[in-house]
Order: sequence, then structure tokens, then C-alpha cells
Amino acid sequence: MTTPDRPLDPTTIAVTAGRPTVAGDPLNTPLMAASNFIVDPTATDGRVYSRNEGTTQWEAFESAIGQLEGGPAVSFASGMAAISAILNLLEPGASVVAPADCYQGVTAILDQRAKSHGWNVRIIATTDTPAWLEAIDGQPDLLWIESPSNPMLEVADVPSLCSYAAERGVVAAVDNTFATPLLQNPLQHGATYAVHSATKFIGGHSDLLGGVVACASSAAADELRLRRSLGGATMGALEAFLALRGLRTLPVRLARSQETAGILAERLHQHAGVVRVAYPGLSKDPGAELAARTMSGPGAVLSFETIGDPSRLDVALSRLSIIHNATSLGGVESTIERRHRLPGQEMIPPTLLRLSVGCEHPDDLWQDLTGVLDALH
Ligand SMILES: Cc1ncc(COP(=O)(O)O)c(C=O)c1O
Repeated sequence: MTTPDRPLDPTTIAVTAGRPTVAGDPLNTPLMAASNFIVDPTATDGRVYSRNEGTTQWEAFESAIGQLEGGPAVSFASGMAAISAILNLLEPGASVVAPADCYQGVTAILDQRAKSHGWNVRIIATTDTPAWLEAIDGQPDLLWIESPSNPMLEVADVPSLCSYAAERGVVAAVDNTFATPLLQNPLQHGATYAVHSATKFIGGHSDLLGGVVACASSAAADELRLRRSLGGATMGALEAFLALRGLRTLPVRLARSQETAGILAERLHQHAGVVRVAYPGLSKDPGAELAARTMSGPGAVLSFETIGDPSRLDVALSRLSIIHNATSLGGVESTIERRHRLPGQEMIPPTLLRLSVGCEHPDDLWQDLTGVLDALH
């Protein structure tokens, strides 16, 4: 194979990166189911045990994500394992700045560590850029950013926050799960870590758990690899295989889902059964201008609040025929969830529905949604 003479588009990198290159090799890294390797007793390197040295499966997946995000990547057993590996780097008494709207698992860990490890956690609204900049001036140990946010779809000024943090030597981690590596690359702006739940859009088929962190430096990646080795939260061989296979079609899945999300957001916005739509692709959305300026697209998740009472809404949701009532997101199949029902999510408006738009036809999805909305009158 020859090397292209100009930088490749990310959509091409998603398809080509991390493949074997030697004649006679298969096009895809074969599934390597191995914990143990035959060791040369006279050698000082080589694979010994897969929790430590990994497998070719990890390497292929990590290489692809690393090329997309622009820094060495480290895979994990889940998004939470990836997040925990970063949070576990902090000492007792550490100061952390985190967004008010954030994946609930992160909020739960921060709450816990504030109690058990004396962490000083400052919560700031995702969109309050001046407050974030002022917090960075206070030299916190970690800035945790999530954008667009789960489940309110708020947009942070990732380039401004990350570059300001980098100038001041503050470590910034960005949960890039909703944006995917195709719509936003935080390392380019000075973030130390870009974190993904590969369970979502990267895997794309709701059939695996995985996580991955792309790092700004080899030293940061080595530290996480050591933590992964000792913590044991490694990605399974099958999961890495499936995650990489999912990544190959991320560009086409995301393009389709994002376009459909835009169509549905517009229609929901006009529907009398909807009080409010949150989607940065909607021109009236408070995050629209920032998303258009800082991201290559608004993504494929949206939230909306309906009229009516929550129990009636639950009954209406049980009549869906195409969209699945399910908690996760980022799959080829559309999923919907009333987040307020979950423990710890009581602050979410009771009739807010988070919709992850899949690859079905927009008109079929709309018919399913109007069935729910019409039942609320
Ligand atoms: C934004 C975000 N980050 C992290 C996670 C955690 O990922 P996982 O479920 O793979 O552990 C989730 C899960 O929903 C998420 O939505």
C-alpha cells in the first residue's frame, strides 16, 4: 500500500485506519481471543498477558480512534471504565470543575468522591463560558466537559475552554460521546483527553460495551494504560472487533441519523403536543450558533418536552412500534427515554424525552412520534 500525499478526510480515516497492510493479511484484523501468549524466555519484550500488552484487536481499534481524534488512544471495557481511569488519577482533596448537565454516572462519581476523598467539585452550567474561564483561572486539577450534553443537549464552547485551559496548564477532559470523533476533536483545541463511550455511536449497533480515551501526549496515554492494566477494565476482543467494525460505517450512519434528527426536530418544534425541543441543529436552539461555529454537525440526539402528565406519556410511549423504549443511544435503531424516571435524574423535566435518532426512514419515525403526541391531547 502507498501513503496518500494529502491529509485524508475523517470519513475516509474511519473506513481505512487500523487495517492490516501486509500482502496476504486479511482486510480486517482477525478476532484474537487470547489472554495468554507463548513467551520467549530470552526476550525482554513481546506479548505476555493480554490485560497488560493487549491484543492486535485493541491496537487496530485504538489506532483508528487515535488517528481520528489526533492523539494516542487507550481502549477500555466501557465508557464508565474510561471515565473512571481519568478520575482515578486525581488525589484526595482534588478540585474538579464539571457541568450541571452531565452523564449521570460522572455526576454520581463526583458526588461520591466529594464525600469520600474530599474533592472540591464546582458545578457550572455548560453554556456559562465566562464562569468556566474564571474557574480555569483558579487552577483546578481537572476540567470535566461534556458537549453536547446528556440529556439536555447543551453546547459548551469546547475550543475556548480547552485552549484557555491548555494555556494555563489545566487538564481538560471532554466527553465527546454525543459528537463522535467526526463532529468535534477536543485535542485539537488543547484538551488533554477526548473520551468516548464506544457503546454508543462508535459501536453503533447496541451490541457491545466499550470506552476509549484519546490523549494529547504519549505520557498521558502510558499513564492510562498502566491504570487499565492494574484496574483490569480492559476491552474484550469481540467488543474491540465489533467497535472497529461499527466505526467503519459511522460516517454514513451519522450522516443519515443527523439529517433525520434535523427533520424530526423541525416537525417536533411545530407540533402542538411539544413544549420545547433541544437540538443544536435547530436554528432557534440556544446552542445552534456555537455548534455551527465549533462542530462539523449537531449530531443525532435530541430532547423534547411534551404537554400532558408523565404517567399518560408513559402509556403513550408503550404504544410505539418502531422507536424502542431503551436507555442507550447511538445505535442504527432509534431509542427514546423519559430520563426523569431514572434514579438520580429527578432534576430532569418530567416530560422530557431523549430521542436517539437511528437510520430508519424519517416519515416512519415521525408517524411513530405523532402517535405518542396525539395521545396526549
Ligand atoms: C455521554 C456519556 N458518557 C459516558 C457514558 C457511559 O458509557 P458506558 O455506558 O459505555 O459505560 C454514557 C452512557 O450513557 C454517556 O451517555
